[in-house]
Amino acid sequence: MLSYQHAYHAGNAADLHKHAALAALLDYLVQKPKPLTYIETHAGRGLYRLDAPEAVRTGEAAAAAPRYARLPPRHPLAGVIAGARSRHGPAAYPGSPLIALALLRDGDTAHLAELHPQEHAALVAATAGLGAHVTREDGWAAARRLTPPAPRRGLMLVDPAYELAEDYAAMPDRIGTVARKWPVGHILLWYPLLSDGRHGPMLRALAAAHPGAARHEVRFPPARPGHGMTGSGLFLINPPWVWPEIAADLAALFPPEP
Ligand SMILES: C[S@@+](CC[C@H](N)C(=O)[O-])C[C@H]1O[C@@H](n2cnc3c(N)ncnc32)[C@H](O)[C@@H]1O
Repeated sequence: MLSYQHAYHAGNAADLHKHAALAALLDYLVQKPKPLTYIETHAGRGLYRLDAPEAVRTGEAAAAAPRYARLPPRHPLAGVIAGARSRHGPAAYPGSPLIALALLRDGDTAHLAELHPQEHAALVAATAGLGAHVTREDGWAAARRLTPPAPRRGLMLVDPAYELAEDYAAMPDRIGTVARKWPVGHILLWYPLLSDGRHGPMLRALAAAHPGAARHEVRFPPARPGHGMTGSGLFLINPPWVWPEIAADLAALFPPEP
């Protein structure tokens, strides 16, 4: 069993980038009266506490707090965080499943896959009564099983922990399979920007295979001296026409460091 636990990183700068994009995309997609499907391959525990020992130990959420303070009150992520804090206390931080479930409507469908037993159990508890289909399952098996979904319109978030070299090398094929099975799906992949450039070949292969996809990257100081992650990236297949506006809002959260 792999050891990654998102509790150490929840509410950090990369989460802000990914979660602000996710919330803005779903906020746009729910404007149309047609139902949609949300699929998440690596869902995590759904609800985090920024005063938990794991979050305090890394200090990543505390370091990112001034960036979160830049979210305009009109931004859908700001509303979702405020809602989670009013229900679960001021230190609560919603993971991507709770962000999505807060924005989806009654007629929409959500499938959440998480492999780690403890994270899965926590996810079941965090989403109880919210109508999501939660499975303890490999995310790629879930992606293949669930596509093309009904309703056909929708979004898939792919947010792996990148613990294995194979996670980078296999990504273009894995994403390609899903995109072929679900050509109308909006597929949002998160990836780290690494100082050793390990993400480069994966991105070049993805960009060659999906020339219409959008890419958005932000840079920030490493969490600790010597830490290899120097930024956060998003690769979006089938970007909606509002994407440039969403991307401009994302960039405003990450102004160049002085
Ligand atoms: C980066 S975290 C997810 C964070 C979440 N998407 C969020 O933004 O709140 C990655 C998650 O993938 C889980 N995981 C690792 N390997 C997996 C696999 N093969 N299938 C599904 N989940 C997996 C880990 O347990 C971890 O909870």
